[in-house]
Amino acid sequence: MIPIARPLIGEEEVEEVRRVMLSGYLTHGPEVEAFEEEFADFLGGRVKTAAVSSGTAALHLSFLALGLGRGKRFLTTPFTFMATVAPGVQIGADVLFADIDPESFNLSIESLKEVLEREEVDVVVPVDLYGQPTQLDEVERLARKYGFRIVEDSCQAHGALWKDRPAGTFGDLGVFSFYPTKNMTTGEGGMVVSRDEELLVRVQTLRNQGQTGRYTYETLGYNFRMTSIAAAIGRVQLKKLKTFNSLRRRRAEILRDLLEGVDGVEVPIEVKGAYHVYHQFTIRVKGGRRDALAEHLKRKGVGYGIYYPKLLYDYEPLRRFRPREDLPEARRATEEVLSLPVHPGVREKDIYTIADAVKDFFKQQRG
Ligand SMILES: Cc1ncc(COP(=O)(O)O)c(C=O)c1O
Repeated sequence: MIPIARPLIGEEEVEEVRRVMLSGYLTHGPEVEAFEEEFADFLGGRVKTAAVSSGTAALHLSFLALGLGRGKRFLTTPFTFMATVAPGVQIGADVLFADIDPESFNLSIESLKEVLEREEVDVVVPVDLYGQPTQLDEVERLARKYGFRIVEDSCQAHGALWKDRPAGTFGDLGVFSFYPTKNMTTGEGGMVVSRDEELLVRVQTLRNQGQTGRYTYETLGYNFRMTSIAAAIGRVQLKKLKTFNSLRRRRAEILRDLLEGVDGVEVPIEVKGAYHVYHQFTIRVKGGRRDALAEHLKRKGVGYGIYYPKLLYDYEPLRRFRPREDLPEARRATEEVLSLPVHPGVREKDIYTIADAVKDFFKQQRG
């Protein structure tokens, strides 16, 4: 079986975890601070960073730092992972949805504008889905015009660029996840990024029980700290990230060449201005044959993923936020998308096996 995702952990990570475990610091301490600094440097150095326990925690704290809550509204795409939205709703805010752009699968700027013309929105959450940034300069332009704040969900886009600027550094706050399937991992973990020192201090306070000093509680906070063990893994993984991303891009390029022109398949596009890091290589399967292709791949031992089979507002806990009219491009994406493995753990020759399995399916369909 060629898996759809596999974390690449080597002896270096194991050695560093051993060193940290014996150092006496198991939770927040020098190792976490070193990881924060190195991650900020990786993003070009003009940002501050706060390491947290997950991408979900990073979103939760970013929303709180911006004052989102009861009586406030945030807007995002319904074609994303639940954690983009759940923390905002949990703290009492309402969520609005705009449609996606069919080429990038990200928030459509046109659809976003349409909603902003009719509705008051406090925070917009562009999601850099599959490792490809949203048109983030456009979102920032609209923020100035309509007066909303931005949390960029870069949980899938470590090392991606939009017009040469790193994903995660746009808007007020950016968030990353280091879950094991991501382009780099810490086991569980996340990072909040901001150029705004005050916002970042708020995040740091909230992640550590609301403390500004030992037993000085400025607010009621959480325990969303990152462990030193996670940070030790992250520091090694960060050093490998550029190589990991190049390997993903190379595999994506080969697979795209092999699948281009296959009748019934649309290959993913790197949008002009984007440096895509292929967290997922996601094709569209036309003619209602996606699920049949998935079955075929399973039989052939090719792992795949369907991200995402439903829109967020299809799920019971979010049904009350359904837009008046269904969002057609987002809906179509749920019916057509299928992701194929391009992670660095896949050998180049496996990419040919994957392409053959897809082609084989369409040949059988015609035959
Ligand atoms: C788009 C998106 N947002 C948020 C998250 C949440 O991150 P985590 O699983 O680290 O909590 C993830 C990943 O799982 C994600 O893909």
